[in-house]
Amino acid sequence: MSVAKSVQWDFSKDEAQRQIVKMTMELEGLPALMERPVTVEQICANGFDERVIRTVLSALNRLESPAVEEVTPGHYQWVGEKTGQRDLHGFEMQRRWFHLKDAVRTGKPAGTLEPWFLDILTDAIRVSARELAPLVVDFVKTHIQTPDHGIDVGGSHGVFSETLLPLGHRMTILDLPFVVEKVRPTMTNVHFIGQDIVKQPLAATSDPFGFAIMVRFLHMLGPADMQALAKNIRPAMRQGAKIVVVDTMRGISPNADVFGVHMSLNTPYGNTYSVEDLEVAMGLRCLHVELLPQLGYAAAVFRIAE
Ligand SMILES: C[S@@+](CC[C@H](N)C(=O)[O-])C[C@H]1O[C@@H](n2cnc3c(N)ncnc32)[C@H](O)[C@@H]1O
Repeated sequence: MSVAKSVQWDFSKDEAQRQIVKMTMELEGLPALMERPVTVEQICANGFDERVIRTVLSALNRLESPAVEEVTPGHYQWVGEKTGQRDLHGFEMQRRWFHLKDAVRTGKPAGTLEPWFLDILTDAIRVSARELAPLVVDFVKTHIQTPDHGIDVGGSHGVFSETLLPLGHRMTILDLPFVVEKVRPTMTNVHFIGQDIVKQPLAATSDPFGFAIMVRFLHMLGPADMQALAKNIRPAMRQGAKIVVVDTMRGISPNADVFGVHMSLNTPYGNTYSVEDLEVAMGLRCLHVELLPQLGYAAAVFRIAE
């Protein structure tokens, strides 16, 4: 299969920036002090060094999304909530990479989906989901032509479901209970299911799903998990339903090898997979696959094998 090269995710990008945001947020007393506009002199009176704090404030003030604003000349205020979650997520990703030397011996990830991590993950990936959504919508439009009932497995923040509504689809977001609790109050036009789909099956209903989307989801699972997932969603899917997968895929995405290591560090069984791996693990038949010209994701449409 021949595919064009795409942009590769650069893990080292903005490393120092993330560290500055993370470390500053955790400096005892500083964020609270900067809830109101303060001068450098007022900050230093609380035990901070003037030379270093000036450089830190200046850097935080010049970020693409500033964490500190100079609200009036010489008065600085912390506005980091606007950007904080994405930086915290980036920082945590880097921290986990330093544990590779342990993981290759123990086989254990450096961290998993604890609620505090799901919290920052959901907010951080919402940002990149907005960039990716138009490509996902175009792909779905091409392959699911009539308005239908869809399930967004690992739908998280709901950006993909929301952007599919104008095509006439009705959408249900399935995610872990903690994530659904966080996102449900922000969206009224979709249905939610909060459950671990690897552990618990969906019930058959009178309104089965005509299609499923799994965007950046399958890399979190191992082959046995994917087998369980396929079995667990099947009762709720209409016969002949299609499954749209958008993910980092081996054989297509330029960074699939490195991202596979990343998933070893972040999940107990996760990895990146080829189209053939997914067909075998989930009992699917691939109808079409292509490289999306953004972040190296592949988009594929499958049908559940009869
Ligand atoms: C990497 S995020 C992707 C979110 C979204 N689809 C996107 O691309 O922006 C994976 C999502 O899958 C959810 N998830 C992971 N394992 C799950 C499981 N076993 N059952 C349900 N949801 C799960 C996580 O909570 C998370 O929201």
